[in-house]
Amino acid sequence: MQRVVSQTMCRWWQSYSYQYWRSGIGFLYLVCALLAVESSATESLWSDREVRILASLRLHKDMPVPDSPSNRVANSDAAAAFGGQLFFDKRLSRNGAIACASCHQPERYFVDNLTKADGVGANMRNTPTIVGSAYLSWFYWDGRRDSLWAQALTPFEAPAEMGSSRLAVVRMIAQDKHYRSAYEALFGPLFQGGIGRDVVMSEKLSHAGPLGSKEDRRAWQSFPRPVKQAINEVFANVGKAIAAYERTLKPAPTRFDRYVETLLSKEKRIDGGLSNDEIAGAKIFIDAQRSQCLQCHNGPLFANGGFHNIGTGNFDGSELDFGRVFGVRAVLLDEFNCLGRYSDAKPTQCRELRFLNRNAHVPLEGAYKVPGLRQLSQTKPYMHDGRFERLEQVIDFYRAAKDDSANGELQPFVISDREADQLKAFLLSLSDQ
Ligand code: HEC
Ligand code: HEC
Repeated sequence: MQRVVSQTMCRWWQSYSYQYWRSGIGFLYLVCALLAVESSATESLWSDREVRILASLRLHKDMPVPDSPSNRVANSDAAAAFGGQLFFDKRLSRNGAIACASCHQPERYFVDNLTKADGVGANMRNTPTIVGSAYLSWFYWDGRRDSLWAQALTPFEAPAEMGSSRLAVVRMIAQDKHYRSAYEALFGPLFQGGIGRDVVMSEKLSHAGPLGSKEDRRAWQSFPRPVKQAINEVFANVGKAIAAYERTLKPAPTRFDRYVETLLSKEKRIDGGLSNDEIAGAKIFIDAQRSQCLQCHNGPLFANGGFHNIGTGNFDGSELDFGRVFGVRAVLLDEFNCLGRYSDAKPTQCRELRFLNRNAHVPLEGAYKVPGLRQLSQTKPYMHDGRFERLEQVIDFYRAAKDDSANGELQPFVISDREADQLKAFLLSLSDQ
């Protein structure tokens, strides 16, 4: 409205002042002409449709974190503080040398920049960031966990990550005075009814758990069911505290978001904006006629939350990796899933798990979770196996897609070298220092 008025006024001034061009009033004519050029430039730069797409991609500073009904302490500050300490504690690994933060390093946007993670042993996959993970429904590249807290339990017992066991983790909580009081303030007394106390405190066994080495598993099997459940209960709560901490790690708006914000503001004044190359790259990214990017990388995190096959699975050789097809099975079997006894959710609140697509005809083999595209400047190397060191290589991978099944869902994507540079420039506008 404001602009219409000022444009009408300008038009009037222009016709009126033209005859006085040689007198001082001509100056106003010039100002109006410049204004007109500027407003038509921003208007023609983006169509309404494009502006709507850009708006759907921008990150709000205060984007609310979704509820986590399976975790009753998800939003507790005390739980986040406790969980933060656990996240950095190397004593929770078998060799005392690895914490969550060894691989998810705060100064590297919570990744390690290694091709494949290096923990107590060598891992098969690349370390993803955990910033913004509160917005996800599935965890790991294959989505084999359905909550942040269930995910957080897995590295403790993964032989190549922290290599420990739930018995040792629970013992650490029970024996460290500070941890024990933080735990009990949140979740109530350890060992309710005394169940499990002897096993945990006696130190006869240093490790026991259903997923570790043969000895760990044998030890675990020797416990009566109520003892197992008492240990699991504490273990699950440890995960819930860590999840509360992880939920505080939210992505920050970048140059791209500020640009879209100004584009949407009434003044349409674009400053501190994007370069011409970045704008050209954004156009390629959001143009469904030219690229498919937006089909999978959409929303404020540039990830649709789903699993897609883009031809990156490893079906032969020494490092087999079938992706989502096993993730689906694993999450249904996980005793810490949303429907399990350690979850705080009502079954009706476990929508994602209940409506999980188990249809074997859907091409889950070789499908991976679509990663977000924010802060890529800090999170190299890329893909589930860290196969690409540079963003150029990722873009070239998409450019090489042929119209055949080897590329999964990808279709041929034809752009010039210059446009590939522009696409990369755009992707980097989603990164800030
Ligand atoms: C040895 C390195 C290493 C350690 C230690 C480690 N992680 Fe990870 N983390 C990884 C790797 C690698 C993946 C991806 C593995 C996969 O998809 O199979 C991952 C995945 C994740 C994810 C899923 C992110 C997503 O987008 O799906 C979260 C959350 C996470 N880790 C949190 C933790 C927490 C909490 C701890 C400590 C209890 C921890 N990690 C310990 C390497 C590590
Ligand atoms: C059909 C869905 C789909 C389409 C279309 C798609 N991607 Fe992806 N993208 C994925 C998946 C899935 C992965 C992870 C694959 C893996 O880890 O093996 C990925 C990975 C990436 C990565 C690596 C991120 C990281 O942290 O490892 C980048 C960058 C990327 N895509 C950019 C793009 C761009 C640019 C386009 C358009 C040219 C595009 N993608 C089109 C699904 C898609």
